[in-house]
Amino acid sequence: MSETNNLCTKSNHKPWETSEWKKLIEHVKVVKGQHLRELLRNEKRSDSLFVEVDNELGNDIFLDYSRQLVTDKTMELLFKLANVCNLKDKIKALAEGKKINTTENRAVLHMALRAKKDSCFSVDGKNVMLDVHSVLDRISRFAESVRGGKWVGATGKVLSNVVSIGIGGSYLGPEFLAEALKTDKIAKAAANGRTLRFLANVDPVDVMRALDGLDPETTLVIVCSKTFTTAETMLNARTVRAWLESGMKEYENVASKHIVACSANVSGAKAFGILPENVFGFWDWVGGRYSVSSAIGMLPISLQYGYQIARAFLDGAAEIDNHFIDADLSSNLPVIMGLLSVWNSTFLGYPARALLPYSQALLRFPAHIQQVDMESNGKRVTLDGTVVPFDAGEINFGEPGTNGQHSFYQLLHQGRIVPCDFIGSCISQQPVDRTSKCGGVELVTNHDELMSNFFAQPDALAIGKSKSDLKAEGVPEKLWSHKEFPGNRPSLSLLFSRMDAYSLGQLLSIYEHRTAVQGFIWGINSFDQWGVELGKVLAKRVRGELAKNNIEGGSISYENFNSSTARLLRRYVHIDNL
Ligand code: F6P
Repeated sequence: MSETNNLCTKSNHKPWETSEWKKLIEHVKVVKGQHLRELLRNEKRSDSLFVEVDNELGNDIFLDYSRQLVTDKTMELLFKLANVCNLKDKIKALAEGKKINTTENRAVLHMALRAKKDSCFSVDGKNVMLDVHSVLDRISRFAESVRGGKWVGATGKVLSNVVSIGIGGSYLGPEFLAEALKTDKIAKAAANGRTLRFLANVDPVDVMRALDGLDPETTLVIVCSKTFTTAETMLNARTVRAWLESGMKEYENVASKHIVACSANVSGAKAFGILPENVFGFWDWVGGRYSVSSAIGMLPISLQYGYQIARAFLDGAAEIDNHFIDADLSSNLPVIMGLLSVWNSTFLGYPARALLPYSQALLRFPAHIQQVDMESNGKRVTLDGTVVPFDAGEINFGEPGTNGQHSFYQLLHQGRIVPCDFIGSCISQQPVDRTSKCGGVELVTNHDELMSNFFAQPDALAIGKSKSDLKAEGVPEKLWSHKEFPGNRPSLSLLFSRMDAYSLGQLLSIYEHRTAVQGFIWGINSFDQWGVELGKVLAKRVRGELAKNNIEGGSISYENFNSSTARLLRRYVHIDNL
C-alpha cells in the first residue's frame, strides 16, 4: 500500500470508532440542552467564535459562527477529532499532489491552477506550474486577440458573442462567476459590447435559448469538456457546429475560426475537428467540479471580461489556498466551516444546508456549490470501502436573500431545522445613494435594506419568539402557537468587504476546501463520482432503442425494459396517436 493510501485509509479509516467521535456524540446531549437565545447572551463565548482573514488589498473576510449550536467545548472536541483524523496531514497530502483520489489514482491539485508561476506544486515529481502558466498565457493572448478584433470569424467579422457549451463542472462554476461579475463596475466596463452565454442542457429548448438572436458570423463557440465524451455536451457541440456551418454556407474553415475547446482530452477535441492549437488544455488532476479555475472557467471569463479579471479571481482563490495550507486549524476558515458542517449534519442530524447570499451577483453560487459539495461528499463508503454508519454529505440548496425570505424561509423558521450560511458584503457592487426616484431622500440605501435582512435573519432563526413575547405584545392566545418561533436554529455569517473578482476567488476557495475538510473527517473520497455512472449507462440503452425506432421499419424492443419503463416509452413514442 502506498504512503498516500496508508494516510487516507489505514489511519482512522473508521473515525466513528475513535474516542473523540464518541465524546462528540455524548456532547450532543449537553448542547441540545441549551438554547442559542441564552448562548448568545454570553459575550465571552461570542468573542471566541469568529475568524478574520485580513487582506492587504482590503478584501477582508469575517466569519461569525456564534450562532452555531456550539460552545467552546464543542470546538475543542471538533479540533481534537480533526487531529485524530490527521486533517493537517491530509491537507498537506492534497497540496503535495499525492494521489488522494484513490479510486481513480489521481492527484487533486486545483490549487495549482491559481498559484503564482514561481510556486511549486508537483504531481509525480514534476512541478506543474510551467504547464499551468503556459495555458494561462495562451488564454490571455487568445482573449486579447478576440477582444481586440485581431482573431476574426470566417467572414471577417469581429467575434463579440461567446457560447460556452459544457455541463456539470464544465458549466456551473463558469456560469456562477460570469453572473457574479456582470455587475462589478470594472468587469462590466470590460464586457461592453460583448455577450457570453452558456449551453448546458441537451434540451433543445436550452439550445434555442442559448443561440436565440445570435449571429453565427459573430459567434465564437467554446466546447468545454474535461473528457470530451459527455453525451449532452457532444450532441450540443454538433448541433451548434451545424448552426454555425449553415449560417456561413459559402465559407470554408468555419469550425477552425469559430470553435475552440477546453479539455483534458486533446485528441478527442481534434477528432471533433478542432485544431490542436485551438484546444486549451488541463490535466487529470483537475476534477470536473473543481475546474472553474482551469481553462474551463478562465477562457470564457477572459473573453468576456479580459484576462486581468480572470487573474484577480485566481489571486483571490490562491490567497485562501495558502491560508488553508498554512493557518492553524483553530483560525483556519475552511477548516472551521467544514468542522461545523460535520457537527451539524453527522452529530446534530441536520441533513441539509441553505446557502443564502445577500448579493444578487451570487445568484448562481448555490447551484455551483450544490455540485461541488453533493457530487464530492454524497458518498456511502470510506476510502477502504467500509460502509459509513451515518449519512455523509449534505443537501445543499439556496437562493439570494431577500428573495429566499419570500419563498422558503417559512420552513427555515417554523418547519425543519436547516443550518444556514448567510453570505454578504459590506460594499455593494453597485453605487448606492439615498435619493429616491420621487425626488425625496430614503432613510436607507438599497444595500442597507438588503443588509438589514442579512443581519436580522440569523437572529430571528437563533433567538426566535416565545409565547410570553406574544402575550406581552397582546397577541390573542389562539394565535400564540401559530406565531411562535422556536429559534435555536444554527447559522453562520460570512461577511466580505466587497464582492469583486478577487473576493469571488476567495469565496470559491473557501467552499471548495470546506467540502474537502468534511470528506477528510468522514474518511471518504470527495474526489470521485461513481454515483453518476449508472444513470448514464441506462440512458445509453434507451438511446439505442430510440435510435432503432427512428430508422424506417425499426422499432423498440420493449422486452428489454421492465413493464413500467416499457409503458412510459410506449407513451413517449406513440404520442402522436394518443
Ligand atoms: O456528472 C458527472 C460529470 O462527470 C461531472 O463530474 C463533470 O463535471 C461533468 O460530468 C462534465 O464532464 P466533462 O467535463 O467531462 O464533460
